[in-house]
Amino acid sequence: MKVLVTGGLGYIGSHTVVELLNEGYEVVVVDNLSNSSIDVYDKIKIITGKDFPFYEEDVCIEKKLDEIFSKEKPDAVIHFAAYKAVGESVEKPIMYYENNLVSTMKLCKVMKKHNCNVFVFSSSATVYGDPEVLPIKESARLSTTNPYGSTKLMNEQILKDVCISNKDFSAMILRYFNPIGAHKSGLIGENPNGIPNNLMPYIVRVATRELEILSIFGDDYDTPDGTGVRDYIHVVDLAKGHIKALEKAFQEAGVKYYNLGTGTGYSVLEMVKSFEKVNNVKVPYKIVGRRAGDIAACYADPTKAYNELGWKAEFGLEDMMRDSYNFVLKLNDEKRSNE
Ligand SMILES: NC(=O)c1ccc[n+]([C@@H]2O[C@H](COP(=O)([O-])OP(=O)(O)OC[C@H]3O[C@@H](n4cnc5c(N)ncnc54)[C@H](O)[C@@H]3O)[C@@H](O)[C@H]2O)c1
Repeated sequence: MKVLVTGGLGYIGSHTVVELLNEGYEVVVVDNLSNSSIDVYDKIKIITGKDFPFYEEDVCIEKKLDEIFSKEKPDAVIHFAAYKAVGESVEKPIMYYENNLVSTMKLCKVMKKHNCNVFVFSSSATVYGDPEVLPIKESARLSTTNPYGSTKLMNEQILKDVCISNKDFSAMILRYFNPIGAHKSGLIGENPNGIPNNLMPYIVRVATRELEILSIFGDDYDTPDGTGVRDYIHVVDLAKGHIKALEKAFQEAGVKYYNLGTGTGYSVLEMVKSFEKVNNVKVPYKIVGRRAGDIAACYADPTKAYNELGWKAEFGLEDMMRDSYNFVLKLNDEKRSNE
């Protein structure tokens, strides 16, 4: 089976490509490197000992996609390529709608032409907005609070409509909770440009003294210690969820929705304390006001993915802490030796 992976050199995509290759799939990656580096291509090859074709192309360009499909003839698509920064999406909504929606529509169009009917899509827990009930089930009410979230919800609608129009089409909508951690080799991981938006890369950068202090946005939420609670999932567990989803998609047509989370929520303070303990390093922090748009708590009910896909998260919080830190220490060593 040959799988075309868009955004395959990004954070989650690269880990999924490793798992696909390890499982014996043939892989083709298309990534325009807008938020990744070509080094990741070599690192995936080092980790897996396998080669695969890579196209530096924009998946919004139909002609290029068509050429790649003609040459590679993939059996399935896993579509990671998207912009993903919530704050930036509020400032640049059209840029987000264009990239995140046009890419999916062009892929669906080219897939139809080439009779490729299996699509796995990166959605997000952000489609649940501020959840009314915890843990969150796939059947929960959907709403969004920013353009990024709206692109995810609109993509879900597009794929649902494609499934209605084509009874052979299979769309797996995977709603990720909060991926952190890195491959155990330390060769690939999350490496955001500039100041990180998310908690874990921020904690790591404070631990390495690249950033001075962690700001915790609010300690007056209705949670056990007052700080925000999220469902953190190891990126390798998340990657493995894609393999399970792919297997299911090859068996059954139609649209299906799955939460990929652990089912356990941890607060910001618990995350900081765990990181300090596991890695034996200090993470100075200060409490500041709440950040607009943040919610108190969000964690998954992952039962459906277990029952229907046979998938559940295996890694624990300590693994996530250790692997996140290990990746950045290795990356910094590499940068120093290249200077
Ligand atoms: N990381 C998270 O916390 C999270 C949570 C929920 C959902 N998601 C979704 O998962 C997917 C992957 O996220 P990630 O964290 O790996 O992001 P990432 O930015 O690391 O990876 C996305 C990759 O897509 C590429 N890309 C973007 N637009 C492209 C285009 N038009 N053509 C070709 N390549 C393009 C980028 O260069 C990058 O390599 C995204 O769709 C994101 O919205 C991420």
